[in-house]
Amino acid sequence: MSERVWSDVDSYIDERLIGPDPVLQAALRDSAAAGLPSIAVTAAQGKMLHLLARIHGARRILEVGTLGGYSTIWLGRALPPDGRLITLELNPAYAQVASVNIDRAALGGSVEVIVGPAGESLRGLLAGDAEPFDLVFIDADKKSTPEYFAIALEMSRPGTVIVVDNVVRDGALIDADSSDSGVQGMRVFHDLLAGDARVSATTIQTVGGKGYDGFTLVLVDQPARTGPGG
Ligand code: SAH
Ligand code: DHB
Ligand code: MG
Repeated sequence: MSERVWSDVDSYIDERLIGPDPVLQAALRDSAAAGLPSIAVTAAQGKMLHLLARIHGARRILEVGTLGGYSTIWLGRALPPDGRLITLELNPAYAQVASVNIDRAALGGSVEVIVGPAGESLRGLLAGDAEPFDLVFIDADKKSTPEYFAIALEMSRPGTVIVVDNVVRDGALIDADSSDSGVQGMRVFHDLLAGDARVSATTIQTVGGKGYDGFTLVLVDQPARTGPGG
């Protein structure tokens, strides 16, 4: 089974279930024109994130890793009128492209792009003691996934859903000796999940237009912010 077939099936899914979407297409076009890497989620994956957010009735969404705002738009479109999405991006030039794309999607009023290293931004949000998030999508530098997940847990409530992208990486996930810090990050992340009774999780392998990878779906049963002895 070749990558060609995976891409062709993604095209079929796009045609049947997603259809032309000028706003999303413009977001990808302008991201490419500005030199951003072509590493956004696929349309089928974006729609899955969108459906998850709607199924969950998510009012507060946190995204780590904005790029050009493609996944941001899919998630932002799932928000109710009073909903909010905060998305974190290290690269100011990427964040600028994303802001234009998000405005074109008429989501400027509900989406906030915070520029800077996500670890710092997350600690700022945590210190701000904001309401917990209903859904978190972690999709930034892969080596820092365990750190981002730990802080996301602290900003969770029972029932918060956390989705983590790019966890399988062509199967490298099972290579204990991998020299790739991103792969090691995803292995540490799985070790965290395995040892944490407060969460329920599974990882799903995927193929498609972006190759062979996968995502982890986490349900928070009990948040990290517990009292002494809790
Ligand atoms: N979620 C996007 C893709 C994100 S790609 C989509 O599917 O459309 C990963 C992004 O994480 C890149 O834009 C990269 O600049 C950003 N990133 C990398 N390291 C980061 C860090 N330390 N803090 C915040 N963002 C970071
Ligand atoms: C990379 C990052 C992503 O979020 C992704 O979906 C694919 C690749 C990367 O940094 O290579
Ligand atoms: Mg990704």
